[in-house]
Amino acid sequence: MVTSKPAAATLSTHTIGPAVSLAQAASPRPRLTIVIPTYCEAGNIAPMIAALDRALTSIHWEVIFVDDDSPDGTMGAIRAIGVNDPRVRAMRRVGRRGLAGAVIEGMLASGADIVAVVDADLQHDEKLLPRMLSDIEGGKADLVIGTRYSQSGEAREGFSTARRISSELATGLSNLLLRTNVSDPMSGFFMIRRSLIDTIAPNLSPGGFKLLLDILASAPSGIRIQEIPYVFRPRRAGKSKLDGLVIADFLGLLLAKVSGNLVPPRFVLFALVGTLGLAVHLVALRAAMDISGTTFNAAQIFASVVAMTFNFFLNNALTFRDRRLSGIEALKGLLTFYVVCSIGAVANIGVADLVYSHDATWWRAGIAGALMAAVFNYAVSSALTWRR
Ligand code: GDD
Ligand code: MN
Repeated sequence: MVTSKPAAATLSTHTIGPAVSLAQAASPRPRLTIVIPTYCEAGNIAPMIAALDRALTSIHWEVIFVDDDSPDGTMGAIRAIGVNDPRVRAMRRVGRRGLAGAVIEGMLASGADIVAVVDADLQHDEKLLPRMLSDIEGGKADLVIGTRYSQSGEAREGFSTARRISSELATGLSNLLLRTNVSDPMSGFFMIRRSLIDTIAPNLSPGGFKLLLDILASAPSGIRIQEIPYVFRPRRAGKSKLDGLVIADFLGLLLAKVSGNLVPPRFVLFALVGTLGLAVHLVALRAAMDISGTTFNAAQIFASVVAMTFNFFLNNALTFRDRRLSGIEALKGLLTFYVVCSIGAVANIGVADLVYSHDATWWRAGIAGALMAAVFNYAVSSALTWRR
């Protein structure tokens, strides 16, 4: 990276928008990049940029919005300002969804050595940014987290009781399992050295909502962390994209990290759905056998179809919700899923049989077969049924 002072001559070759001071234009690279993930935030763009402008008066900054092809004109709102203001950049991602992935890509595209992540809806207090920046630049910290839980405990405005309790539970659980010790590891508001992100980016999971937690779990030990409390404001316009499914995300991420990144979060969800499917299978089997005249075989086939159908729709809603199929595509997906699972079942029996012939412990053979089927079904259905 070039850090030398710019030549004055470069000034004449640039077209400088009205919002940029001469001092800012003379510097080739911003000191700070603010990454803002957006999905349907059209109404918040202009107020957000204005807020940054007010908060960062003596700092050369840029903002990168990473938009997942919002249908509400978010990109238009960003471009309308960006044409006259070179500090405002935007990335449009097509055919993809996901908060963490969007933020990771934005951070990797930053022009500065230090990056901040802020939500677009003005819930985070941008006035903290200069302090966060001087903490990092001054060598006090490598990561500064805006925390909604201060010692004084006032940082909780725009926060429902239910959400607070679940957030506190999740915080306790993740601190315990990941041996982190921060008061708000779910925060979406933080600032970090870009070099750290460059190092750990390949280990981060782009799927979920919990990027900071992932960063904390993936960062090398010994990084210095600073926490600054702030008041979580109510959302300005639009609505939250966080739904009940983030709990599943959170559990998946936690298990993936505890297993040392061996198991991808998506597989954790797939396996959980499969376990539920087993329960559904047993209930359906019992019910079918209660109908007089059904043979065990017929009941077993019926139960398999019920369980596969259940698994398909749950996986479609949860595990693969970023690639969710609907309408005729869902029907096609269901059919391929039946085929995949049927081959998986054959693989299950084959592997179990093989293991059993070497080691006559029934449960070890059973687990090996089930694991084989789970991995097979996961790998093939993510490539075939829910292919990108
Ligand atoms: N690009 C992109 N893609 N952006 C997204 C997506 C997505 O799929 N989903 C949400 N966003 C953007 C929103 O537009 C917003 O700017 C930001 O991410 C946060 O989303 P919200 O929908 O406002 O989340 P929240 O306010 O409910 O949740 C906040 O608190 C959580 C902890 O409780 C956020 O700060 C989360 O990051 C945080 O984990
Ligand atoms: Mn929000």
